[in-house]
Amino acid sequence: QAAAAAKSTKPQLEPEARKPKTGILLLNMGGPERLDDVHDFLLRLFLDRDLMTLPAQNKLAPFIAKRRTPRIQEQYSRIGGGSPIKKWTAVQGEGMVKLLDRMSPHTAPHKYYIGFRYVHPLTEEAIEEMEKDGVERAIAFTQYPQYSCSTTGSSLNAIYRYYHKKGEKPKMKWSTIDRWPTHPLLIQCFTDHVQKELDLFPPDKRKDVVILFSAHSLPMSVVNRGDPYPQEVGATVQGVMERLNYSNPYRLVWQSKVGPMPWLGPQTDETIKGLSKRGKKNLLLVPIAFTSDHIETLYELDIEYAQILANECGVENIRRAESLNGNPLFSKALADLVCSHMQSNELCSRQLTLCCPLCVNPVCRKTKAFFSSQQL
Ligand code: FES
Repeated sequence: QAAAAAKSTKPQLEPEARKPKTGILLLNMGGPERLDDVHDFLLRLFLDRDLMTLPAQNKLAPFIAKRRTPRIQEQYSRIGGGSPIKKWTAVQGEGMVKLLDRMSPHTAPHKYYIGFRYVHPLTEEAIEEMEKDGVERAIAFTQYPQYSCSTTGSSLNAIYRYYHKKGEKPKMKWSTIDRWPTHPLLIQCFTDHVQKELDLFPPDKRKDVVILFSAHSLPMSVVNRGDPYPQEVGATVQGVMERLNYSNPYRLVWQSKVGPMPWLGPQTDETIKGLSKRGKKNLLLVPIAFTSDHIETLYELDIEYAQILANECGVENIRRAESLNGNPLFSKALADLVCSHMQSNELCSRQLTLCCPLCVNPVCRKTKAFFSSQQL
């Protein structure tokens, strides 16, 4: 029964289902809810050819997943035994559909579905449920504000592949909100959270605090193929700093590099070391590319960097801005994005129609054609 509940993409808090007219599929990679889910999460991740290509991937992926499982399980056990991402996505989705039913009665009832890439409810399971529910209008809504072919691109490819594998055309009319790095309410939410945390520094230090916007890094091979992510993350950072009137010095830094190959830098940990060596010992970490808490905030930023590393480097004050999680203004941002998307009658952003200049994945082109050729 627990497994069935985990797989269900039904809203957790809605007592009875109304037949939805508009289905909003909230896309994300997801995270293991329990320690027992860690292995399968890693296995799906390492098998995802849209995220990475490995030699003999079908053999190597199970090997790497198995080897990494104990260390990652240990990290999850330090943050309460699992990822809170499904819980937060449900809270955000609930808030969003409630607002949407009021904002846009002619497209109501609205229902949200969760489509994760590497844990249940999987994207494919969510699509099946949407088709079964008889949804008329389906919106693939990425929960990554900034687009990368490794994240949002992988989720959109999964939607294309679902129908391609079935050999069927969708009954629903699909469109996508594929990026929203500078949406005013998103910028407002981030700014509020940064300001709230800045105010908690000792008053005489507040002006010296260096704001470190930290985003998940990418291998340079992905960046050099022309992935739009670094530029879009930069746009969000700029929007927040503008709203803060450039009150403090800041940098955009990159976390979570793995393996020996070059990744986009400067790395968050190296930056903390480098700044403290140069006498900058008041630091505010801001997760800027993910909207809910996950292992990279709760473990990497909070424990590895803000506790262990900061202590080793003699940092005076280090804080971390809260993730957007259950902030009601964030649900409003989501509702506003969906509402304006429906009013615009656009199938996707213009930017989605362009493949990376050095893209070698034939599925990307097909996915873009799938979304840009739907008839609303
Ligand atoms: Fe970017 Fe294919 S990798 S479009």
